[in-house]
Amino acid sequence: MYHSIIADLLEHPKVMETREQMHHSIPKHDHLLRSARYSYRLAPLFGADRQTCTRAAILHDLDSRLGTISTHGAIAAQLAAELGEPEAVGHAIISHMYPFGPAPTTREGWVLVFADKLASFSDMTAFASGLLTGRSLSVRRSLLGTDPFYVERKSRKRSRLTALVRRRREAV
Ligand SMILES: [Fe+2]
Ligand SMILES: [Fe+2]
Repeated sequence: MYHSIIADLLEHPKVMETREQMHHSIPKHDHLLRSARYSYRLAPLFGADRQTCTRAAILHDLDSRLGTISTHGAIAAQLAAELGEPEAVGHAIISHMYPFGPAPTTREGWVLVFADKLASFSDMTAFASGLLTGRSLSVRRSLLGTDPFYVERKSRKRSRLTALVRRRREAV
């Protein structure tokens, strides 16, 4: 099972915190798990190393907001190296956004490109089907309240608004 390959990483705070972060309008943790599951299944079809693919997948979008669409792979690859992952894991992560960014140079890199695209498609399908029950929107609302990126953005907006109201009052 793919879980046993990544059991240690699933308990790492950097992976745990993705439960509260939003990615494709769903918890980023769901996207990472889907990517890991697809990577695990695709690896043998590509003749790639299953362990490398699955471990790269569970880490591939960590701290993605610190980069752009084409550079966030490099940020997660650096983080993987800091967590002690072998170079092959970082190599797979760095090119996962291909064609928006560098092309993969290894079989494991290609596995992650396809696994990530499939997972993203499944994320959107899951979100769309959850719209019927209202679950998707309630999860999204709750993520907006826990994801530090949106929490900070909201407080920045609020303080800009407060400053604007204060300036208006002073002008009257
Ligand atoms: Fe990504
Ligand atoms: Fe991804």
